[in-house]
Amino acid sequence: MPLAYAVLLCLHLLAATLWVGGMWVMHVAVRPAAVASLGPPLRLPFMAATLKRFFAWVSAAIGVLLLSGLAMIWMAGGFGVMHWSVHAMFALGLLMMAIFGHIRFGPFKRLQRAVAAHDWPAAAPQMNQIRQLVALNLLLGIVVFVLAVVGRAP
Ligand code: HEM
Repeated sequence: MPLAYAVLLCLHLLAATLWVGGMWVMHVAVRPAAVASLGPPLRLPFMAATLKRFFAWVSAAIGVLLLSGLAMIWMAGGFGVMHWSVHAMFALGLLMMAIFGHIRFGPFKRLQRAVAAHDWPAAAPQMNQIRQLVALNLLLGIVVFVLAVVGRAP
């Protein structure tokens, strides 16, 4: 494997790990701990501030994933020569990015507005929708990892 390809793959894997690992931590640790220990007036601003920081890193990770992935495909000779698992990764990766975009500019924007207005009854359902969509993206991310790695076996 040429060095440039190995560097791109390393960046690609770091970005995928940040995104999928970050969703795992949010879903199984941060949100449940916040629900268990904080009431809505503390929990919802805390979750909005935590997600704001996490989503900025996810946006950067998405840029790195797309650029490194497409650069590796270009170096390898185009989509035509890639294994089916890369095509599946690309399709599911784009779906994950679309779901992230929806979260970021849909329920997350509404959560921020409701939190700024101290409107907890309006903020709670937005947080619940974010939780469900992050769970879906987490599942898709794990499927992509399995397809990308195990799918390469002949
Ligand atoms: C949507 C844009 C994406 C493109 C264009 C893309 C493209 C690629 C390419 C070309 C490789 C190298 C394959 C090889 O050397 O045979 C790769 C590897 C990999 N990608 Fe992606 N990818 C994308 C998204 C993702 C996402 C969202 C994840 C995880 C959530 C992911 C996880 C991986 C993993 C784990 C590998 C390592 C596979 C291995 O070397 O065994 N990719 N990707």
